[in-house]
Amino acid sequence: MIVAPSLLSCDFSNLEKEAKQVVECGAKFLHIDVMDGHFVPNITMGPMIYKNLKGKVDAVFDVHLMISDPLFYAKDFIAAGADYLTFHYEAVSDVKEVINHIKSLGARVGISIKPNTSPNVLDEYLEDLDLILVMSVEPGFGGQKFITGALDKIEYFKTKKDNNKYNYLIEVDGGINLETAKLCKNAGVDVVVAGTYIFKAKDRCKTIKGLIELWL
Ligand code: DX5
Ligand code: ZN
Repeated sequence: MIVAPSLLSCDFSNLEKEAKQVVECGAKFLHIDVMDGHFVPNITMGPMIYKNLKGKVDAVFDVHLMISDPLFYAKDFIAAGADYLTFHYEAVSDVKEVINHIKSLGARVGISIKPNTSPNVLDEYLEDLDLILVMSVEPGFGGQKFITGALDKIEYFKTKKDNNKYNYLIEVDGGINLETAKLCKNAGVDVVVAGTYIFKAKDRCKTIKGLIELWL
């Protein structure tokens, strides 16, 4: 089981320190939320923000693109160090083209679906994916409440994975705390993203370890 702190809730003026701290506490992934002010009504960061972080922290860079044109920008995010590059199903017209493009650039590929998108839209792509990101809030902002409909989707992808021996990781993003993480664990999730719960905690290390221990 993997904990992926979302840097969206960190102090960006201390990015290196914040990232190192959560990795030293046991986080294996760093979740990097990219918003373009078009696909979602918020703007965050481009690839240059995390480019210099790569090499300074020992973590998998899990980049979540909430942008309208992932096909055009994929190369920049991969060149900056994305290990997993995840785009939104709802953002593109030719899903297969984006999958192939990301793979050809040497990154692992993920697809994310919003709360109102049904999981079966991904059926024809499952065997090509390295990661499926189930949104448990509307993408755009941290600090929202977990939408329980995500649990059925996690179960759906877990069943498909077990029945067909697919290789993707199942990741959940939005409103994660110890309680909701437990529900996701029972549904079959592999990676939990948490922003507010970790970065606004009094004791971040204890919070991360609490999540890791759910799976022990
Ligand atoms: C929301 C982002 C999330 C966000 C989660 O659009 O994709 O990664 O940071 O934040 P919390 O954990 O605060 O819900
Ligand atoms: Zn995210």
